[in-house]
Amino acid sequence: MSNRSLVSIDDISRDELLDLLEHARYFEEHPNHKVLDGKVVATLFFEPSTRTRLSFETAVNRLGGRVIGFSDPAATSTSKGETLKDTIKMVSNYVDLIIMRHYLEGAARYATEVSDTPVINAGDGANQHPSQTMLDLYSIYKTQGRLNDLNITMVGDLKYGRTVHSLLMAMRYFNPTFHFVACPELAMPQEYKDFCDANGIKYVEHTDFSPEVINAADILYMTRVQRERFQDLMEYERVKNLYTLHNDMLVDSKPNLRVLHPLPRVNEIDRDVDDNPKAYYFEQARNGLFARQAIICRALGIDILKQESEKK
Ligand code: CP
Repeated sequence: MSNRSLVSIDDISRDELLDLLEHARYFEEHPNHKVLDGKVVATLFFEPSTRTRLSFETAVNRLGGRVIGFSDPAATSTSKGETLKDTIKMVSNYVDLIIMRHYLEGAARYATEVSDTPVINAGDGANQHPSQTMLDLYSIYKTQGRLNDLNITMVGDLKYGRTVHSLLMAMRYFNPTFHFVACPELAMPQEYKDFCDANGIKYVEHTDFSPEVINAADILYMTRVQRERFQDLMEYERVKNLYTLHNDMLVDSKPNLRVLHPLPRVNEIDRDVDDNPKAYYFEQARNGLFARQAIICRALGIDILKQESEKK
């Protein structure tokens, strides 16, 4: 890649992943480090978002930069028929970095092809969500003290869930064992199982969300069944509530287990789990701020840790 875009988690090497985690840790300790003076960042959200957009915008603000953008494409010239190519070319005239979410798979990659401005993919359809993966890895590292040799159970919408796709790919460096819990309609796509096979990643598929699966897990990664991805809403109605985690299901789980969820949740985690110390999804979302500060700095070629060590 000619610039520091982040389109797929596959664009980042193991060393870069670990370096981003080190930077995230630095930003957790020093969130208001003003290194983006004079920089303008665009957040272009063609799909709804709460956490991703607001944490990216908070990250820019805390780093001392400025944000322009939109969260409702209906209020832009997209609604008049302007193409994605033209929108990206226009916006890249104004800013130093584009952060975009789009409903089409491959939209962020396309944006990198029509503009020299770095692009961060904030989610493209059912494909990838690499900044979510960085905060997931940071959350796993913080709660488990390591990334290696973990038993990770992914539950729910594994077909359309871009967060599980990105996380699965990133974990290839760390010898995980995956358990995929999903109904046949929402099973992990074959291409990701092929990726596991090609990378020597162990996985087991389940349709039953059994106590054995829960009690063996280090990480229980719950996901929402995404209504917006279904062509057939009758099928959504059939599968939407198949897997719900309740507090009493965690009684015999491992002491180090943490429950993660990219959020938003609907019914897949009962509210009675929220006060369990093993529930980590709100802290996970908080970690997004620090991971995204690290990603923004990488995209703009700013290495805070190097700068700090040179001061000494
Ligand atoms: N996890 C996540 O992408 O949340 P939002 O859709 O609210 O950004």
